[in-house]
Amino acid sequence: MFRAKRYLVTSALPYANGPLHIGHLAGAYIPADIYVRFLRLCGKDVVYVGGSDEHGAAITIKALKENSQPKDIVDKYHEEFKEAFKQMNISFDIYHRTSEKIHHETSQEFFRELYSKGEFQEIESEQYFDTEANQFLADRYIKGTCPKCSYEDAYGDQCENCGSSLSPTELINPTSTLSGSEPIKRKTKHWYLSLDKYEDWLREWIETGQLDGKEHHNPEHWKNHVLGQCKSWLDGGLQPRSMTRDLDWGVDVPSEIPGSQGKKLYVWMDAPIGYISATKQWAVDNNKDWEPYWKDEDTALIHFIGKDNIVFHCLTFPAILKAHGDFILPQNVPANQFLNLEGRKISTSKNWAVWVNEYLKDMEGKEDELRYHMIKIMPEKRDSEFTWKGFQESVNNELVNNLANFTNRVIVLTSKYYDGVVPAFDENQGISSCHDKDELSFHDSEMISLFDGLAEMGDHVRKFDFRGAMNAFMTVSSNGNQFLQFNEPWKAKDEDPELVKVVMNVGLQYVVALSIACRPFLPKTSDKLRRILNLEPLKEEGEWTKMMDTLAEGEEQLIANGHKIGEPEHLFSRIEDTVIQEQIDKLMATSKTDTETNSPIKNTIQFDDFMKLDIRTATITSAEAHPNADKLLKLSVDLGFETRTIVSGIAQHFDPADIVGKKISIIANLAPRKIRGIESNGMILMAEDDKGHLAFVSPENGMMNGAVVR
Ligand code: 2FM
Ligand code: ZN
Repeated sequence: MFRAKRYLVTSALPYANGPLHIGHLAGAYIPADIYVRFLRLCGKDVVYVGGSDEHGAAITIKALKENSQPKDIVDKYHEEFKEAFKQMNISFDIYHRTSEKIHHETSQEFFRELYSKGEFQEIESEQYFDTEANQFLADRYIKGTCPKCSYEDAYGDQCENCGSSLSPTELINPTSTLSGSEPIKRKTKHWYLSLDKYEDWLREWIETGQLDGKEHHNPEHWKNHVLGQCKSWLDGGLQPRSMTRDLDWGVDVPSEIPGSQGKKLYVWMDAPIGYISATKQWAVDNNKDWEPYWKDEDTALIHFIGKDNIVFHCLTFPAILKAHGDFILPQNVPANQFLNLEGRKISTSKNWAVWVNEYLKDMEGKEDELRYHMIKIMPEKRDSEFTWKGFQESVNNELVNNLANFTNRVIVLTSKYYDGVVPAFDENQGISSCHDKDELSFHDSEMISLFDGLAEMGDHVRKFDFRGAMNAFMTVSSNGNQFLQFNEPWKAKDEDPELVKVVMNVGLQYVVALSIACRPFLPKTSDKLRRILNLEPLKEEGEWTKMMDTLAEGEEQLIANGHKIGEPEHLFSRIEDTVIQEQIDKLMATSKTDTETNSPIKNTIQFDDFMKLDIRTATITSAEAHPNADKLLKLSVDLGFETRTIVSGIAQHFDPADIVGKKISIIANLAPRKIRGIESNGMILMAEDDKGHLAFVSPENGMMNGAVVR
């Protein structure tokens, strides 16, 4: 780690089809921004690219819904995204877009190269077609029940519930999202990438970190849930995936390729290539060479994404890069899990979200406060939850009471005692220390503690553990605060002025260190602190390394004796209950229930259809986590005349121990299905309310197991 010569860091390109919410920020943008800022502070050569993903069904469906053109949609959201990222201080070196010519050309070059190398299979197959809309239905144009987890709203390319990557023909009960009708099948020809061919080397690369017999990365540095998802896809066997679509919006299949008429690149082929075209544009704009960043083995490529993008960044895109042959592969893909909001999944259609642009308006000037809380609850290893109360507590109890309080005390006392001039001190002064390093001078021993705290923070950042890093940073601040409290300069000022000089000098060294250390997390606060200290704002050009070297040498100081600091300024202010309540009220008032967003009742069925279902009462006799999927539970249910295994997607809602003994109802004659390696024999009936809470459909007390429900 941190041994590479240069870094190319990417954040997922968000679909330009709707505003950004805090889940986006927590997933792929704030973590990447922390990482790149830290790399720059360490003097590393880093390029951080992002941009809008402007192709694919996500865009065209939105245009259709709004009765406008895809171009209008992407233009609107691209500008919005750019502005929101800027205001949140996400420090992209370039924020690009996939509708740019350079991107179309770069993607087409890739397609050509793979085509000419014979990497594609041309396959004619029957695909779903909507006769009303006169269109083939790929990806998000089609919905149905997920064959892996039974989630009813799975898309044609992916189930958002269990994360499985799907093809439309795998969906159970497919319907067109354009017309709601049942699609027919029609023949069409496409170019498929033989992912199956890459299965072995992908497995070796991901699981052992070896690439062509050489060490490429250390798999122990990858997150467990990322490795787990990759492994489960690899274990399930990779299938050839179509890299083209029948669409009229997207990157054209190069026209010289026979049969290219009317065909576009699959959005998941062109979008990740967007990282490359963004780098090319950055190079043009800055008079640099883009190639070393993508082709030299001493470059570390790091993709920050949300967990729903893991398959594309760990399997498909690496296979495309490898098939091309000239490109490096990612060193790490530190994907985050999902952020929930006030007990429910964030949902655009239900308007259950904190929208970044609205936050920026409602909470003007509080960008770092949001960053702070998002880092604190970042879903690094598992899903986590944003609550407005939690946000308020973070700001009031930590930013105000710890960081602002400590730095303000040091600044105010320095102004008061020394007219704002950093006091020189006598090295031999001081005995009273809360740290026990007695062979050193008081000042030196405090500087060593400071160094240790900062070093710990750096270690966490290098491991992509940003929650841990910020925690270490806040510990440095509270150590400073305790140090001040312990030495009580306000009491000692008259009796022992020499000691107070040492204490205040240490305090100032801490504040300077914090102004550098907070930079990756709280960039705006860093600028403020530098202003208060009357020091240059950070350029992010090796200042961290310089600070650590200075502290390690044990001689020099971070701020010179005699330096005149600036005026005290408010770092953070308390957030009042009324402000928080307004946000909670707004969320409740503007969110939509299921009945408002979903078609209330499904299509009519005949009595005979109903009679085909065999619904029975049963009792859960055992429940355990599914070994290969964190959303699933493996249940044994007693039907009176037999016991069955049923796999159910309820793990996020119930503790296995709490549901043993529950009376339930099941569909008993559903065809058995293997779900992530375990055969499931039936389906549990569940009710779901408009807040996403689940409840079993239980017979009244005393009903026998196996009774027929009708
Ligand atoms: O999930 C999404 O929002 C995709 N638009 C992410 C694309 S990431 C990259 F490959 F461009
Ligand atoms: Zn699923």
